[in-house]
Amino acid sequence: MSLGRPRVHHRRTGSTNDEARTLALGGAPHGALVTASEQIAGRGRDGRRWAAPPGSALLCSLVLRDPPELLSLRAGVAVAEALDERARLKWPNDVLIDGRKVAGILVEARPRERWAVLGIGVNVAVELAQLPSELHASAGTLGLGRSAIEPLLGAVLSALERRLGDRVEQVLDAWRSRDALYGLTVAWSGGEGTARGVDEQGRLLVELAGAVHALDAGEVHLR
Ligand code: BTN
Repeated sequence: MSLGRPRVHHRRTGSTNDEARTLALGGAPHGALVTASEQIAGRGRDGRRWAAPPGSALLCSLVLRDPPELLSLRAGVAVAEALDERARLKWPNDVLIDGRKVAGILVEARPRERWAVLGIGVNVAVELAQLPSELHASAGTLGLGRSAIEPLLGAVLSALERRLGDRVEQVLDAWRSRDALYGLTVAWSGGEGTARGVDEQGRLLVELAGAVHALDAGEVHLR
């Protein structure tokens, strides 16, 4: 397996994505991995922060050279597969179990330099009461012990290795089979409509007054 080597582990760091970006800029090979027990400046999508009590979450970032198209969806599928049969995907790649977000993925790409950093956070042993109160309604946890973090990392890397090599159709089929939003009413900055899955570019399709809109970025909310 090419993912996970070399590996740098930090007991405490700012953000593993920042560490991995530094490695990428320094020439680290495809698959180089940064993990941490604690992040003091963990980042989420859309400028949000990502919080997890020390030692309770899988916090990792990979350097990927020549990343394939649909990286964000591939990563969501792989993490869901590593977790649980019940894991579902909220576009583009939030991983939910029983409607609660247990894992988040942050892709930071440098297309012109042909690399990306793929950051993954999974609430493995997180106690929800220890998370910031604004997350209490939406966050979930696997509710496992801390000893489950390392085996889960192995499962995520194996699933990713497979999914990074898949054809686009295989990725889309796998993503669609775990689509948490299909048929539900969602709201985004342009309005409110019914989620209709993803197109071949990984955009979210939303039906509104008989027309189908393709969203390629931004946030959607369940109504
Ligand atoms: C999101 O759902 O908003 C994405 C969350 C991504 C969190 C992970 S934790 C490891 C890596 N380092 C970071 O600073 N963020 C990602």
